[in-house]
Amino acid sequence: MIKSDYIKTLLTRAKRDVKTIVLPEGEDERVLEAAHIVADSGAARLIVLGDEKKSAEYFAAQNWATDGITFINPQESPNLAEYTELLYQLRKEKGLSREDAEKLALNGNYFGTLMIKAGHADGMVSGACHSTADTVRPALQIIKSAQKGKSVSSFFIMLSNGEPYIFTDCGVIINPTEQELADIALDAAETAIHFGIEPNVAMLSFSTKGSAKSEGVDKVVRATKLAQEALLTERYKNRGIQIDGELQADAALNSVVAAKKAPNSPVAGKARILVFPNLEAGNICYKMLQRLGGCEAYGPILQGLNAPINDLSRGCFAEDIVGAIAITCIQATK
Ligand SMILES: CC(C)(COP(=O)(O)OP(=O)(O)OC[C@H]1O[C@@H](n2cnc3c(N)ncnc32)[C@H](O)[C@@H]1OP(=O)(O)O)[C@@H](O)C(=O)NCCC(=O)NCCS
Repeated sequence: MIKSDYIKTLLTRAKRDVKTIVLPEGEDERVLEAAHIVADSGAARLIVLGDEKKSAEYFAAQNWATDGITFINPQESPNLAEYTELLYQLRKEKGLSREDAEKLALNGNYFGTLMIKAGHADGMVSGACHSTADTVRPALQIIKSAQKGKSVSSFFIMLSNGEPYIFTDCGVIINPTEQELADIALDAAETAIHFGIEPNVAMLSFSTKGSAKSEGVDKVVRATKLAQEALLTERYKNRGIQIDGELQADAALNSVVAAKKAPNSPVAGKARILVFPNLEAGNICYKMLQRLGGCEAYGPILQGLNAPINDLSRGCFAEDIVGAIAITCIQATK
């Protein structure tokens, strides 16, 4: 049973255009339970990688139907040779030997990513038993950035009293440059529009409009300027996106504080997208809100990739995986 109303809404939306999502970690019972819940809801078709026999036995023991789910053992897949060749061709100039491609293609995260590249699936959710780096690396190497030269970053959908916020980047870019920070803000604004969240972007710092000085603050000020300039270009203009900074979190979120600290800001007091100056700030903040602040956290969700591939926290529950699958389905819809 799904408790989150927000995730239920996303699953309902996903049913309008059913996508195929790969789950490489079929040996994990939380993943199998999530596959069952999503398939049962009719929101996605699932491909579960791993030992097909064991997964099917687990489903039978739980009395779960397997409609809408395909179990694939990469080692026995008739597509293995095709995926290996695809990987070799894509990576040989980076020094990958045919022998290494053969080994790598058997790895669930690579096999799943290659399925997407080959057009056999629309998205992937992994990370219940892999590190972020191991989940994300195949995506960066094979699927690549949607916009050449632009970095892929990540966001969390944070639900506070049922209201969605976007926190970014809390998962990928460790110490973004000012250009990367601006790109993160712009990508997050587009993400928000896609998910029906108001694209009000706050560039966070420990300073509001010059109240404190440091190199870090200067970086956020310059990133804000770059992002605001980009808003004048064809891609972003007239889409209702507002970006402002540098703002402290209280000024970004609370209208009373905003009136005092940043009275002329179009974003202060009503930010829905919080852009953190670096991964330490973002990652610590989302985990604190999740563990102490009673927020639901979904992510890290990658943004800026050519196809959606998303990570899970290793401490996740089946419901978190369902949430990540629902979000991946929405990302896969145009
Ligand atoms: C994402 C991450 C794993 C990539 O690092 P890496 O594996 O060392 O990657 P590399 O530097 O070897 O790069 C691998 C490829 O990905 C590309 N790449 C790396 N980061 C990228 C980014 N943010 N956007 C787009 N491409 C990227 C590289 O250009 C390289 O491409 P190429 O091999 O085709 O030339 C790394 O940034 C990282 O560890 N981030 C922190 C993740 C983390 O631990 N989060 C914890 C909180 S959830």
